[in-house]
Amino acid sequence: MRRVAVLPVRDTVLFPHAVLPLTVGRESSIQLIESLGEARSIVVVAQLDPRLDLPKPADLHTVGTLATVHKIVRMPNQSRFVFTEGLERVRVLRYTQTEPFLVAEVEVLQDTEPEATAGAEALVRNVVGQFQQVVAESPTLSDELRTIAANIEEPSRLVDFVSSSLPFLTTEDKQQLLEMARVVDRLEFLNQHLAKEIEVQQLRAKIQTEVQDQVQQTQRDYYLREQLKAIQKELGEQDEGQRDTDELRQKIEASGMPEDVKTEALKELTRLSRMSPMAADYSMTRTYIEWLAILPWAKSSGTKIDIAKAKAILDEDHYGLKKVKDRILDYLSVLELKPDMKGPILCFVGPPGVGKTSLGRSIARALGRKFQRISLGGMHDEAEIRGHRRTYIGALPGQIIQSIRRAGTNDPVMMLDEVDKLGRDFRGDPSSALLEALDPEQNFSFRDNYLDVQFNLSKVLFICTANMLDTVPPPLLDRMELIFLQGYSEEEKVRIAFSFLIPRQIKENGIAPEQIEFSEEMVRDVVRHYTREAGVRKLEQTLGTICRKEARRVVEGHKEKLVVTTAVLKEFLGGIQVRTETEIAERVKRPGVAVGLAWTPAGGEILFIEANKMKGKGGFTMTGQIGDVMQESMQAALTWVRSNAAMLGLAEDFTKDLDLHIHVPAGAIPKDGPSAGVTMATVLVSLLTDTPLLPLTAMTGEITLSGNVLPVGGIKEKFLAARRAGVKTIILPAENQQDVEEDLTPELTEGVAIHYASRIEDVLAIALPLLKIQQAKPVAADAFAVGAVV
Ligand SMILES: Nc1ncnc2c1ncn2[C@@H]1O[C@H](COP(=O)(O)OP(=O)(O)OP(=O)(O)O)[C@@H](O)[C@H]1O
Ligand SMILES: [Mg+2]
Repeated sequence: MRRVAVLPVRDTVLFPHAVLPLTVGRESSIQLIESLGEARSIVVVAQLDPRLDLPKPADLHTVGTLATVHKIVRMPNQSRFVFTEGLERVRVLRYTQTEPFLVAEVEVLQDTEPEATAGAEALVRNVVGQFQQVVAESPTLSDELRTIAANIEEPSRLVDFVSSSLPFLTTEDKQQLLEMARVVDRLEFLNQHLAKEIEVQQLRAKIQTEVQDQVQQTQRDYYLREQLKAIQKELGEQDEGQRDTDELRQKIEASGMPEDVKTEALKELTRLSRMSPMAADYSMTRTYIEWLAILPWAKSSGTKIDIAKAKAILDEDHYGLKKVKDRILDYLSVLELKPDMKGPILCFVGPPGVGKTSLGRSIARALGRKFQRISLGGMHDEAEIRGHRRTYIGALPGQIIQSIRRAGTNDPVMMLDEVDKLGRDFRGDPSSALLEALDPEQNFSFRDNYLDVQFNLSKVLFICTANMLDTVPPPLLDRMELIFLQGYSEEEKVRIAFSFLIPRQIKENGIAPEQIEFSEEMVRDVVRHYTREAGVRKLEQTLGTICRKEARRVVEGHKEKLVVTTAVLKEFLGGIQVRTETEIAERVKRPGVAVGLAWTPAGGEILFIEANKMKGKGGFTMTGQIGDVMQESMQAALTWVRSNAAMLGLAEDFTKDLDLHIHVPAGAIPKDGPSAGVTMATVLVSLLTDTPLLPLTAMTGEITLSGNVLPVGGIKEKFLAARRAGVKTIILPAENQQDVEEDLTPELTEGVAIHYASRIEDVLAIALPLLKIQQAKPVAADAFAVGAVV
């Protein structure tokens, strides 16, 4: 046991046999150094907390190192620089003095040397080997250390030497090593730490090379590109990318885009100029900028609207349609007075081929604006209208922005064809995107997903078209001003053919007007026997076919003018294709068949309704793809017949031994609606009383259980269909008389007898002239006599 002065040190551990230079600055420590006698022995002990300035005994580790102070250098700032050499491990037993410096009684700790086993030997060699490796790889450790380590024989000395030489061991690690009595423990501890250090070194080396490789690659690219530029400059060629960006910048400047869009475009342009043209998204970014630059942000074409001129143009392109043209001109007048009109969107509704699309074209012509057409039929995906986000591969703007680009102006007439055929499924609902584009309240800031900036659509004149309204999404329908176009009569079709279709087909097929002659009668024949439509599309095609045949004849050398005759029609078009007059006459020969009238999106149509009876037990079957409303109307007809059996001369319980079957042929086409009610009642009465129908008669009307006849829609289309089919007598609900007077001209109704009915008895009286009414019920008789409309 010895009594020695104790020197606390902050952040270091002195090992036996190691030399440690120390700066001594603390007052107590300086006094300690100054008081050293010949022996020059001290104990160096590490502080628990290196930050303490005046450590007390309790703030120090209990194990330290007995050391000799070799040299003391006095520094100008009063501190001392001392060289200490560790001798042996000691444990502090007791402090005997604390002022002016610490003095303690200590005992020497003996090392427990390992036994000379193979395991211990291996440990030692391992430590030496790893130490050598660490030193070799380390940029800071001197190679001498390897030699020294290789020459130390004693394991305890080796361990202490290695411990004090490794810079990566923390003070705590070192203190732990100092406190271990068993040398084997120290060897194991070092082994682990050395292994970890080797791993860290390897990792560091790897990262180092990678970084270096990268730097070299970019430097190489840069160097090559600079060289390329220099060569191009020598050759008088401007840098491709540079020229490209310059061009785009000019386009952006010239496009008149709003400030915020311009900022965005220029930002993307800067990004582009920093990209290599080889980069994957170079062309993507470039396409995007091009889209922004090319859109007609500020380019309009519309001039002042001249209503007289507009009217002239509409008349020039279309025959008739007086009401429709008036509505259009009203609309255009408002547009002229209030260009920022937040008005409704026009929607033309009508059967195919009646001129909806071509009216749109005329409107554009009248306004001096571009015309663009988007077909919405079968569109399912919102993105088709509003585009895909730019992150999507192959993304493009939606149809609206695309057609703005095609138009090249921001105020085209944009026709959205077939809104009634807009789809909707899991890919999203295009109608909501459409609504956003159409709605004047929000379309000044329309945002296409691809562009991702706002585009003002408020100057675009949107016009929708539809064949029917049932399937138009209701929110769209709400915002539309509907303009109905009806089918044409035979007379109108002939006029349209002469004024528009024939001259156009002659021109389109490259023949001269003198080379072909159509007579009115022949055109009427084409209308009647080769087409069956509300509009004039098929008619135009058929006339086109005739003109093409003539073109071929001209080319083949025929000089004489072609006069179209029945024989020519037969030769060019084949035999008569539509033979409705005889069809009706033939099918309605026996009792139990009558002709009803239906409205379809393609115009009016005649509908055969057939009934049959057989032995049975009062069954009632209805077939022919008929909807619920039509079925109910059949039930109502039957009930009326049963409840009026006596009046009709039938047994009260006539259904008892019968099964009845009503069928509406052409079963592939779904049919619905209440307007065949009167026809069904007539068919049943005709069948049950075995009374034939008046030839060439058609009828339409809804019935109630008590036998009243209610009005129905689509009168003009139905009338025209009946006329086309050769009907001579038509029975209509009394309340539809007004529609006939408004929509049908006297020349149209000429040759067709129109009867109005307010009771089913009225209908029967005309349709079944041979029917004997036995004895009318008092109430029914009253109503019949007065013809009251209930
Ligand atoms: N009143 C008319 N006067 C002159 N030509 C007409 C008239 N109505 C239709 N046409 C002509 O008939 C052809 C078909 O018309 P259009 O394509 O406009 O039909 P649509 O109503 O748009 O039909 P769909 O519903 O099938 O789209 C066009 O060539 C058009 O010029
Ligand atoms: Mg059309």
